[in-house]
Amino acid sequence: MKFDDKVVIVTGAGSGIGAATARAFSEAGASVVLADVDQQELDDIAGKLPRDRTLTIRTDVSRADDVDAMVKAAVDRFGGLDVIFNNAGILVEGPVDKTSLDDWNRIVAVNLTGVFLGSKAALPHLRERKGCIVNTASVSGLGGDLEMAAYDTVKGGVANLTRAMAIDHGRAGVRVNAVCPSLTRTGMTEDMQDDEATVKAFLDRIPLGRIGEPEDIAKVVLFLASDYAGFVTGVNLPVDGGVTASNGQPLFENA
Ligand SMILES: NC(=O)c1ccc[n+]([C@@H]2O[C@H](COP(=O)([O-])OP(=O)(O)OC[C@H]3O[C@@H](n4cnc5c(N)ncnc54)[C@H](O)[C@@H]3O)[C@@H](O)[C@H]2O)c1
Repeated sequence: MKFDDKVVIVTGAGSGIGAATARAFSEAGASVVLADVDQQELDDIAGKLPRDRTLTIRTDVSRADDVDAMVKAAVDRFGGLDVIFNNAGILVEGPVDKTSLDDWNRIVAVNLTGVFLGSKAALPHLRERKGCIVNTASVSGLGGDLEMAAYDTVKGGVANLTRAMAIDHGRAGVRVNAVCPSLTRTGMTEDMQDDEATVKAFLDRIPLGRIGEPEDIAKVVLFLASDYAGFVTGVNLPVDGGVTASNGQPLFENA
């Protein structure tokens, strides 16, 4: 897939899925704007990318002024915008009665309002170039998990916002899709990866028998952003090793 002459914004680009996707877009020829709250991480990732096609901007996606400045910086530097990958996110664990209101408001602001703000700021520019939006939802937005009430809620919101925006902006030629990863090896899930029993419990439920790598997700983001997906919009695409193929019953090996 070629993204020569394309301008791409990646939020949450300082780590994990965002960093892998920023690298993949850059390798495919795009000019890439890497946005994150962590400037140090951005500098580390961007330092290995071509200087003339790379821009970093410290951005808190939950703040409208930051997000507007991020989109303006992309357009000012590279002359337009073709793709925004709304990916920045945080994890809040626990059932509702153990989730503080502050944590609830924080995850709504970053994971859901962040997607709204990024899309809102990008849309005028995406319309001009018939560009597209790719969001990071999750398998946790397609069904529920144990003790992830706030996370499941906001990811469900991202999944349905993806559908709603696809319907609203299709006539303008703007496609909107989302990737839905299951457990992926990033900083967000380090605790889970370090716990043998947790990893085994996940592997028991993943038909392909391994957890995801950030590059697995990045490749699908590039596909959704590419002309190969030119007739695909409103899709929340699981990138999950087959987790969501199951009806939920235990996966037993035949004796
Ligand atoms: N890792 C998984 O198993 C998994 C599974 C499904 C979905 N996801 C989703 O993938 C996305 C990327 O997460 P990851 O796994 O790469 O985690 P990560 O922690 O490695 O990366 C998340 C990045 O987002 C940045 N960030 C956090 N708050 C921000 C804010 N307010 N503004 C801008 N940047 C902010 C962080 O600094 C970090 O660099 C998230 O939306 C996450 O919910 C992850």
